[in-house]
Amino acid sequence: MKLVTAALEDGIHIVKVNLGNRSYAIYIAPGIMDRAGQLIKRHLTSIQRYAIITSPEIYSIHGGALCKSLDDTGIEPSLIFVPDGEESKTWDEAGRVIGELVDLGIDKRSTIIALGGGVVGDLAGFVSAIYLRGVRFVQLPTTLLAQVDSSIGGKTAVNHTKGKNLMGAFHQPSLVLSDPNTLKTLPREELVSGLAEAVKYAVIANTKLFNALEANIDKLVGCDISTLSELIARCCEIKARFVELDERDDKDLRAALNYGHTVGHAVEILSGLEIRHGEAVAIGMSVAARLASSMGMLDPAELDRQEALLKRIGLPTELPQRMDDKTLLEIMHRDKKVLDGSIRFVLPTGIGDPTTIRSVPEKLILRALEDSRREA
Ligand code: NAD
Ligand code: GLY
Repeated sequence: MKLVTAALEDGIHIVKVNLGNRSYAIYIAPGIMDRAGQLIKRHLTSIQRYAIITSPEIYSIHGGALCKSLDDTGIEPSLIFVPDGEESKTWDEAGRVIGELVDLGIDKRSTIIALGGGVVGDLAGFVSAIYLRGVRFVQLPTTLLAQVDSSIGGKTAVNHTKGKNLMGAFHQPSLVLSDPNTLKTLPREELVSGLAEAVKYAVIANTKLFNALEANIDKLVGCDISTLSELIARCCEIKARFVELDERDDKDLRAALNYGHTVGHAVEILSGLEIRHGEAVAIGMSVAARLASSMGMLDPAELDRQEALLKRIGLPTELPQRMDDKTLLEIMHRDKKVLDGSIRFVLPTGIGDPTTIRSVPEKLILRALEDSRREA
């Protein structure tokens, strides 16, 4: 899989996110965790304390290497544990973590380090955005989903019972360190879930990436670290360019990254968070592509190609039978893209071609949902 144009230094892919005084670097390399302390010191000068936010499960696997690397800088890190899983992305948990930061004496010259998947990253990022009106933070993503997507771009949030990510803030990390070796311990279904976001980038922006995904499925699902490293670097480059164009997601450009998320978020919530984020996005991309095809915007052959890739990866593309369309619609009405009461979708126009955002009549949405079930 040879796709990456990112700068390479000592075998490390480096992707820059250029946002003026909020610019930062993403380092991607197997084993980079062992150099975390050195790189954090290099990029965040004047740091005097580290507070690692992680879950006990992730810490037990990868915490030792990180702490050793930080200890080598002469600063002993403090630890804050959050429970594993989406349930911990809440307002209450954010408040509890802030209490611990206060007790630990974490101040503006400290940095928070998020060690974990998208859940830990979103929660730790949100806490960093609001604690003392903002402290610096470093992302050390340990799931594929977090390495290709959630650790980059500065969207931080916690969930509300009425919807996902309803309370959040834009707060860019100061540094992202992605170690693909951490993926060796990731359960296969989590790796597969992360691949959904890679398919998303390919469909919205890059035909070559789509071809490469088709050609490398076995290596990717088989956790071939060199292939995954190339994939992560490519995805980071694509996301970085969208974020640079529309950092605060208010120009309808970054919104392309929400391809599959209108239905995806509704499915995730209605499943009681049992369906993983990437799996829900895969179902959402399938429904969105179906809609685009029914509206004459996407060649049916392209819809079939996307469907085939998702299925070969092992991702779901059909809505669970038990999910009620009316409830799905109700949840979609709370989507952040809703404008004047209309549900808007990111719709593909071809594999790798620019997407468009359109208000879609409810009867078309209902038909696409029904079709997605009928073929199950
Ligand atoms: P997750 O963070 O829940 O991690 C999935 C599971 O993998 C957890 O049980 C975790 O303990 C385990 N795990 C993590 N790293 C591991 C490792 N190296 N080895 C073994 N187990 C490991 O899920 P996720 O898919 O990483 O993230 C999903 C979240 O990301 C959702 O809340 C979603 O809303 C958010 N997200 C945010 C953005 C953004 O831009 N901020 C983008 C996409 C998704
Ligand atoms: N994951 C969507 C975004 O970062 O904009």
